[in-house]
Amino acid sequence: MKLFKENIPDAKCKKVLFSLRDVSKSFSDGTVALSKISFDIYEREILVITGPNGSGKSVLLKLLVNLLEPTTGTLLYKEKTVKSWSSAINREVGFVFQDADVQILGDTVEDDVSFGPENVGIKGNELSNTVTHALTTVGLLHKRTCRPAVLSGGEKRRLAIASVLAMGVKTIIMDEPYANLDWEGVRLVNDTIRSLEKIGYTFIIVSHELEKIAGLAHRIGILYKGMLKTIEKPEVVFSEPFEQWGVRDPRMQYHSFEDCVW
Ligand SMILES: Nc1ncnc2c1ncn2[C@@H]1O[C@H](COP(=O)(O)OP(=O)(O)OP(=O)(O)O)[C@@H](O)[C@H]1O
Ligand SMILES: [Mg+2]
Repeated sequence: MKLFKENIPDAKCKKVLFSLRDVSKSFSDGTVALSKISFDIYEREILVITGPNGSGKSVLLKLLVNLLEPTTGTLLYKEKTVKSWSSAINREVGFVFQDADVQILGDTVEDDVSFGPENVGIKGNELSNTVTHALTTVGLLHKRTCRPAVLSGGEKRRLAIASVLAMGVKTIIMDEPYANLDWEGVRLVNDTIRSLEKIGYTFIIVSHELEKIAGLAHRIGILYKGMLKTIEKPEVVFSEPFEQWGVRDPRMQYHSFEDCVW
């Protein structure tokens, strides 16, 4: 399989998009979701974050788009604090939530995808072309007149991705994009990631399902109990003792039916 890792800018021309320094997040019930996280996210990379349930992955993503605020530490987007720069983040960064239902706003599939571009003044033929392109990309064009409520779980997730694509953002954050997706659905999402990465998009993807995405990742980060245990190129991560952080080796092979059980 052809990988696209050669597209990542080399170290000296890496442009930092997000920068986190000693970022912690606690909640009023005493839960420490993230503890002193420091790393940068570069423009044009595909960064995959993984880790067990409750390790802080979704909280981390929400901090990036100002849905939550760090308790302590510094969180920058293009060198300004995320808090002070949320207008730029809203324009430039799209978020596909873990729960696709929370994101659906339109009465029809088409309306839902139109919502973002209409908000920034796109109309007429341009709007129609944008919506058609986004729905085609995720394989949902035939559902354009359906009510979102009747879509299957996987179709709703594809709709959420189409809506983010139509907004024209250059950075896409996805929280568990493969949840509920069938084989074709996973391939459509990955084809979309591949083609957008080639034209300069940045992806920040949280997934438990490394076997579906590790081959596309420029870097993989592992969160464990709110701590960032590693964030490196896949070949480096997989040479570390990553199973102690609750992450299954995605290179695990099945040779017989008996092997096909976790
Ligand atoms: N609003 C909140 N109030 C209190 N605790 C919270 C809140 N949001 C998240 N948490 C807690 O923070 C921790 C990290 O949650 P998070 O949703 O980031 O986990 P996750 O790594 O995304 O897990 P999963 O793989 O199950 O999606 C959990 O213990 C969770 O219960
Ligand atoms: Mg989560």
